[in-house]
Amino acid sequence: MTESRDVCLDSYQPMFRENLLQNQVALISGGGSGIGFRITEVFMRHGCDAIIMGRKEQRLREAAARLSSATGRTCIAAPCDVRQSEMVDSALREALSKLGNRHVNILVNGAAGNFLCAADSLTPKGFRTVLDIDAVGSFILSRCVYDRCFSKNGGGVILNISATLYYKGDVLQAHAGAAKAAVDALTRHLAVEWGDRGVRVNSLSPGPIEDTEGFDKLGGKSPMAQRMLQAIPLARFGTRTDIANAAVFLVSPAASYVSGITMVVDGGAWMTVAVPMSHARKLMPSSKL
Ligand code: COA
Ligand code: NAP
Repeated sequence: MTESRDVCLDSYQPMFRENLLQNQVALISGGGSGIGFRITEVFMRHGCDAIIMGRKEQRLREAAARLSSATGRTCIAAPCDVRQSEMVDSALREALSKLGNRHVNILVNGAAGNFLCAADSLTPKGFRTVLDIDAVGSFILSRCVYDRCFSKNGGGVILNISATLYYKGDVLQAHAGAAKAAVDALTRHLAVEWGDRGVRVNSLSPGPIEDTEGFDKLGGKSPMAQRMLQAIPLARFGTRTDIANAAVFLVSPAASYVSGITMVVDGGAWMTVAVPMSHARKLMPSSKL
């Protein structure tokens, strides 16, 4: 097995009843790494079986094996690119057949792509790539799960993993901010259109979550990290388990009358200024920022 920071917890203190998600099947895109991996683990520790999706087949299979072994539940790796609807549908069909033709009850759209780039250097292809993965990918998977499972099984729950980037127009993030704004809009539209079919749809927006690819890519390993920390009212970075616990609440019956919301789990960070323009200019000296 390859080295990975995506290891399961040595111990987990359940915040909820341990069989809260018993007999459910959860599908998590991006479940092979980072926040998605921990969400999958914590869901499984609450009794459900899981399907995880991502493009890197070996990493995904290794993650599924670790998750199954740590939790005693079943986790199926379903490699695919969320931008390709036929590939997604066939991966889902195959995974459900491995689970004895059960239905998906919970969908988490966590797959995303990001990088830091000033708008005056960003190409249309770069902008489109991030929109495609985050927004179009979330729509493709939501439609696929709705058609194949929710519409035939009295409904289900969708949780879209978003971000707060666009609330204040963070620098170097025009592509990701636009993509997550679209994701949050999709949450509301699907919540309205599919509500009477038993489908709840919500967004969860993490703040800076340590020990993740997203955190590293957005400055978590740079001198900027200290400034980011100082701007967080709760005075610490988030953990993957913080996000997973909030996700358990939103997909569980405890949230059975909650639909169409975006829950921000960021220690209050979005309300303060993390990166002043003077710092952003230093990050991208070639840009006209
Ligand atoms: N700066 C500016 N533009 C960039 C870029 C960067 N660092 N990285 C990619 N792009 C743009 C380019 O226009 C590129 O096209 P080009 O190579 O022809 O110029 C375009 O994005 C597509 O990049 P590519 O690497 O071909 O796309 P991909 O689909 O293989 O990968 C990414 C998508 C770029 C988002 C990649 O970083 C990824 O797979 N990320 C997943 C993990 C991740 O980002 N996690 C954090 C989640 S918050
Ligand atoms: P991550 O580990 O890189 O997670 C992204 C996942 O998406 C990876 O498992 C990746 O797997 C998958 N993915 C990317 N493109 C895909 C595609 N085209 N098809 C299928 N799967 C794809 O990063 P993370 O930081 O944990 O981020 C997880 C989520 O949290 C993302 O939605 C992100 O926007 C959000 N978020 C993170 C932070 C943070 O601080 N980390 C803050 C705010 C929001 P493959 O590469 O194998 O495809």
